[in-house]
Amino acid sequence: MSKYANDHAASDFSALEPYKISKDLKIPNYLEETYWWAYVHPNSIQIFERQWLVNFILWGNFARLRDVAINEAGITISGNNLQVACVYGDFSQQLSKRLDSESQLHIVDIAPIQLQNVYNKIKNNSNVFLHHQDSTSLKFEDESFDNIFVFFLLHEQPETVRAKTVEEVMRVVKPGGKVIFVDYHKPHWLNPLAYLMRPVLHLLEPYALAIWRKEIIDWVPPGLRPSHISKETLFGDLYQKVTMIR
Ligand SMILES: C[S@@+](CC[C@H](N)C(=O)[O-])C[C@H]1O[C@@H](n2cnc3c(N)ncnc32)[C@H](O)[C@@H]1O
Repeated sequence: MSKYANDHAASDFSALEPYKISKDLKIPNYLEETYWWAYVHPNSIQIFERQWLVNFILWGNFARLRDVAINEAGITISGNNLQVACVYGDFSQQLSKRLDSESQLHIVDIAPIQLQNVYNKIKNNSNVFLHHQDSTSLKFEDESFDNIFVFFLLHEQPETVRAKTVEEVMRVVKPGGKVIFVDYHKPHWLNPLAYLMRPVLHLLEPYALAIWRKEIIDWVPPGLRPSHISKETLFGDLYQKVTMIR
């Protein structure tokens, strides 16, 4: 058992119907202040839950980035799988379709309206479970998951929160299991979007440029370093997929 084990309650993999909202869990300040318009305001879902819009925000790369992340876990995905934070569009639906009949997908999010939204999208899938949790203090036991997906979450979190999220996913992945991060990356200087994205991110997503300056591995604490890491950049280096095997 790792030194992290005692800090956490036992994993609860029982079906939550549809999920429990914890009264003790508050929307963090960075979400409330910086991303209220995208994830917290009741109208945000009516605005952003459109496949074409999430695709537009990623310069036409949504499906490619989604598939790059999901394919990393296999054509058919088995075992216990965790998606850390909800994603607009069909990420969770496509991921759940790949699961074999014995396998499960668990999705955590801190915003109740985001859990309601993903519930509406996947409520017919009996192997998907939703959890109202904070990515910085997951309520799962050490070494619980075969695959963990962190899709465009890290760039939205302040440095200390991001580091804690990375620590938590490395804690709950099984030895030999994969943590698959897809997020922004510093674009190549020949990529014209570099000159547009810098001010856009600076204005709208103030924590994102830190992802340009550091490697995701830099946020993994020493006791949880992966045995193997691979990195691929896409679309003129504007995006990255980093896979860490525990
Ligand atoms: C995965 S990220 C961004 C995904 C992508 N931009 C999209 O198209 O949806 C957005 C989600 O992260 C969630 N989130 C942010 N901070 C969180 C935290 N500390 N714990 C759990 N969920 C969090 C937000 O509530 C939101 O649903």
